[in-house]
Amino acid sequence: MPIVLGEPGVEGLSEAVGVLREWQYEGAPMQLHPGDVGWFWRSGAEATAAAVRTWSRDGQILALGLLDGPELLRMTFAPGARRDAELAQQVVDDVTEPERGVLPEGKVNIEAPTDALVQELLFEEGWKTDEPWTPLRRDLTEPVEDPGVRIEVVGPEQAHLFAAVLRAAFDGSTFTDERWHAMAAGSPYADARSLIAYDDQGHAVAAVTVWSAGPGRPGLLEPMGVHREHRGHGYGKAISIAAAGTLRKLGSSSAIVCTPSSNVGAVATYRSAGFQQRPEVRDRYRDAYYSSRSGGSS
Ligand SMILES: CC(C)(COP(=O)(O)OP(=O)(O)OC[C@H]1O[C@@H](n2cnc3c(N)ncnc32)[C@H](O)[C@@H]1OP(=O)(O)O)[C@@H](O)C(=O)NCCC(=O)NCCS
Repeated sequence: MPIVLGEPGVEGLSEAVGVLREWQYEGAPMQLHPGDVGWFWRSGAEATAAAVRTWSRDGQILALGLLDGPELLRMTFAPGARRDAELAQQVVDDVTEPERGVLPEGKVNIEAPTDALVQELLFEEGWKTDEPWTPLRRDLTEPVEDPGVRIEVVGPEQAHLFAAVLRAAFDGSTFTDERWHAMAAGSPYADARSLIAYDDQGHAVAAVTVWSAGPGRPGLLEPMGVHREHRGHGYGKAISIAAAGTLRKLGSSSAIVCTPSSNVGAVATYRSAGFQQRPEVRDRYRDAYYSSRSGGSS
């Protein structure tokens, strides 16, 4: 059966997210998580649907991509399909040719599991490796310690506080409470929690959203940040511990996160919160599109 590239549309998003959940398992390489789609949902269901691509054989989704920005495709595969040669070749053809409507001309990036065959095929086509990212993981078999600060779960009433902390944590962030509401309306958020840490004076100082993929599967932190006026007081460590504790309550077997290796503060913070570093991963990228079939640049 041929491999079919598809777009789920708004009505197909829940099924696509459900498939992505099932692909999460202990020991999997760092890969696209339902929480990544859930975090993207802050832009609304229609934008999320427009950003998702699926590759199916015989009606079964075997690979799923999220256009996390117009020039970045983050993708993963069904566990048994990462080395499927026909699928990998089809994915590479679809992402390489701009007219297929996945990635445009110009510089583009692809994130895929390290052991996926597409990595090798893209390398053979001249794609390069980008900056290293560091995945970190905290096992949740044992109970998680108390974070030592007041932590509260965000509901609609606290959305503006959550948004204010994120804006104060990430340079250039335009996050608003409307975005939190859009995110919370998405199907992945049914298994997610946003948390705020407060200091002794009651200021909201740190925020995180955690995404369970269901019991016995790794859960994701995305995003996590500390208000820039409240850094260096252990709140990053505290909110990361609280994130792990919340994921454990949601049934996750581990808490995972991935950050640019250059973000030494984030790596140090997660380590301090009991996360262990795993081997670095890198996107693949190409500088520009040259059609191999016509032999010229387009
Ligand atoms: C990274 C960040 C969360 C750290 O928050 P913080 O409250 O200042 O961190 P903490 O005070 O809890 O520090 C935790 C540990 O990390 C270390 N650390 C924090 N920032 C550091 C930095 N810039 N360089 C080196 N070490 C750093 C601390 O020394 C501490 O180590 P220790 O526990 O061994 O003493 C904060 O700088 C931030 O919000 N940055 C922008 C958003 C971001 O990058 N989020 C992560 C994206 S995945």
